[in-house]
Amino acid sequence: MASRWAYENWEKLNGWPSGARRCQASTLRTRIELLEYRFAMKAIRIHETGGPEVLTYEEVPTPEPGPSEAVVKIEAAGVNFIDIYFRTGLYPAELPITNGQEGAGIVSAVGSDLTSLQVGERVAYTGVHGSYAEYAKVAADRLVKIPDTIATKTAAAAMLQGMTAHYLTRSTFTLGPDHTALIHACAGGVGLLLIEMAKKFGARVIGTCSTSEKAAKAKAAGADEVILYTEQDFQKECRRLTDGQGVDVVYDSVGQSTWTGSLDSLKPRGMMVTFGNASGPVPPLAPLDLTKRGSLFLTRPSLFAYISSREDLMRRASEIFQWIEDGDLHIHVGGEFPLSAAGEAQSQLAGRKTMGKLLLIP
Ligand SMILES: NC(=O)c1ccc[n+]([C@@H]2O[C@H](COP(=O)([O-])OP(=O)(O)OC[C@H]3O[C@@H](n4cnc5c(N)ncnc54)[C@H](OP(=O)(O)O)[C@@H]3O)[C@@H](O)[C@H]2O)c1
Repeated sequence: MASRWAYENWEKLNGWPSGARRCQASTLRTRIELLEYRFAMKAIRIHETGGPEVLTYEEVPTPEPGPSEAVVKIEAAGVNFIDIYFRTGLYPAELPITNGQEGAGIVSAVGSDLTSLQVGERVAYTGVHGSYAEYAKVAADRLVKIPDTIATKTAAAAMLQGMTAHYLTRSTFTLGPDHTALIHACAGGVGLLLIEMAKKFGARVIGTCSTSEKAAKAKAAGADEVILYTEQDFQKECRRLTDGQGVDVVYDSVGQSTWTGSLDSLKPRGMMVTFGNASGPVPPLAPLDLTKRGSLFLTRPSLFAYISSREDLMRRASEIFQWIEDGDLHIHVGGEFPLSAAGEAQSQLAGRKTMGKLLLIP
């Protein structure tokens, strides 16, 4: 069954002309290639939590689709901070796992119940373990077809960070022209997209980042002011820039090192959105700490709660693709690495050496 599938789809996956398949498939070499293709693939696996050294580049069985799943031949996998949290164990998972939560590529196999997807279609997804690999098995209701106008790499880079910036600015706190937003790590993958969306909706943006090179990138993306929080007290600067009022919302993905300053940068009844732990998780907070700062709102959101329904996933993904097409949103790919160099990519991300998005190319 498996090898018949491989034979039937080999031509489609490799773009061979029909005659080529007939000629090649009759040779022993091609038969061996088909078996290798079908049964083994390269993947980045985690068997124990730890530093980048626990990421192992291994040969594992190529996944087979269940009835309502598809297998995606990954052309680009997004590197995200969440991958590091699973590697270090901050976010627990039953090991071993294949790392990676975001990918895009071509459907290479579909399950028996699937009618909505065809082999050969370009798709992207996020929220499923296993994208640091040559192939990944994904439930069909998590897959989004990529519009013809969007490159596969762009789609891979846009799914997780793009939909995160979307829900943060459209649903968690609906930004508008009357608002000032403080965006930490503003030259990062999520940060640059947050800036562009906040500006699209008319808000004023104060960003923070660690270097003048990052500040220039954030300014180019539209930030009104950028504070180097490694050199300046960002909370004091934020007060100065808002005539002592404070900001309406803080989008804080840095966590531990910015937590208190972020709470102190808000105006009364402002919204603290703590959505990441790049510097470590935040400490516990007593509700009265919100009261004494002026009846603040606090939320700790996660993308996956905002795209749990198919409807939400499609709405957010379609708007992201539309904004990219319209030129309102730019995907900043800051680096591409071969799949085998996943550890190096994660080290650069964790080491604050990157701007925008990193991709792994299998
Ligand atoms: N909750 C959600 O739904 C959700 C979804 C996606 C991402 N996130 C979170 O958003 C954050 C950004 O993710 P990303 O993938 O786009 O990464 P990123 O912003 O490209 O990279 C992280 C940035 O955080 C800053 N940072 C500050 N202190 C740091 C430290 N001690 N160690 C490492 N980095 C530090 C660095 O920018 P500077 O050098 O400018 O300080 C670094 O470049 C992560 O915390 C991630 O968990 C959350």
